[in-house]
Amino acid sequence: MTDYKKIFKESLDKLKEEGNYRIFADLEKIAGNFPQALNYQENSVSEVTVWCSNDYLGMSQNQLVIENMIEAINKVGAGSGGTRNISGTNHYHVLLERELCYLHQKESALLFNSGYLANQATLSTLGKKLPDCVFFSDEKNHASMIQGMKNSGARKIIFGHNNLNDLEKKLKASNAESKIIVFESVYSMDGNFSPVARICELAKKYNALTFLDEVHAVGIYGKRGAGVAEEKGVMNKIDIIQGTLAKAFGVIGGYITGNKEIIDFIRSFASGFIFTTSLPPCIAAGAYASIRHLKFSDIEKEKMFAVVNKLKSYLKKYEIPFIDSGSHIIPVIIGDAKLCKRASNILLDEFNIYVQPINFPTVPRGTERLRITASPNHTDKMVKDLATALKSVFNQLNIVKAA
Ligand SMILES: Cc1ncc(COP(=O)(O)O)c(C=O)c1O
Repeated sequence: MTDYKKIFKESLDKLKEEGNYRIFADLEKIAGNFPQALNYQENSVSEVTVWCSNDYLGMSQNQLVIENMIEAINKVGAGSGGTRNISGTNHYHVLLERELCYLHQKESALLFNSGYLANQATLSTLGKKLPDCVFFSDEKNHASMIQGMKNSGARKIIFGHNNLNDLEKKLKASNAESKIIVFESVYSMDGNFSPVARICELAKKYNALTFLDEVHAVGIYGKRGAGVAEEKGVMNKIDIIQGTLAKAFGVIGGYITGNKEIIDFIRSFASGFIFTTSLPPCIAAGAYASIRHLKFSDIEKEKMFAVVNKLKSYLKKYEIPFIDSGSHIIPVIIGDAKLCKRASNILLDEFNIYVQPINFPTVPRGTERLRITASPNHTDKMVKDLATALKSVFNQLNIVKAA
């Protein structure tokens, strides 16, 4: 007889053995005091400084965002009450989708309950429905895109990370009827950029559609926070721009934007869009306020980059190895799962600094890291404290300093 419990336990034991078992920090963010949070442990509660949040610009604490969310709750209540088709399209959703069109200069936009779902549902639908479809996927693409492509049943050809020659070679060799190039603008774990404009050129040459994940770029890059494609002046060359409302915009939800035929197609055929209750209207109201605020305000980005640059110079001074890709993401490479976890524990236990270890499968084995993210609200003292703490951790654990 199958011993189900034993199967589950053995898999979990293996994860623990490898140092890849995930333990969640039990945090309570302190409103108005970001990046501080209370950390609940078994027998204690302590205040910690968070250095690994994707709330890159601290917008989850922005007064305007909060007020708009509260106003929406008071006006229309908590939940949306239905799928988009069956009573769940609130005027707040419509306003937000319109705003996303303006942001990305596209004809249409479609909201999803998360960025993950936007990727997964869109790609699985395209791959399933387009005739003889082949995906050309960057080897470092996020799990949500990989899952979407897989679920579609379509063929996937992986090209070397940001490798234009490899991509061109593979596009040229393919006689598929439908081709889709799937890539990100800022890769979340290394923080590096993709050659967006050059990939668009290849897409045009080989008549391929482009699907660009701007999850780690929206709100931060581009004059109005529309992402790297805006910064590079190629928004109109991307067929589908996908983004999240959960990171720099500080709320939750995902979306795609594109021409009205593509978006209407996804709206009409994507199971992950159709058969789920829509986001609470207050979420749409908060995201709308956040996007509109960041469209005209540079102060959050400027402050965040000042913190990023300060931290990078401290790390260089203290010889802490990190990947400097020029973006706002700072990966400090540890290179071993157990060591990475120990480093994170020391930061928390001895210095009240919280940086979650990033291990396999999120990153390849041997490249385990502390993925550090700054915000406009980290003070000079917090930066110095983090750098000093990292120096101590590297010494204590005798980590080889080679990025
Ligand atoms: C590149 C990328 N795409 C998509 C997602 C999913 O976005 P969301 O957190 O809104 O579900 C993530 C999440 O971290 C991501 O890193």
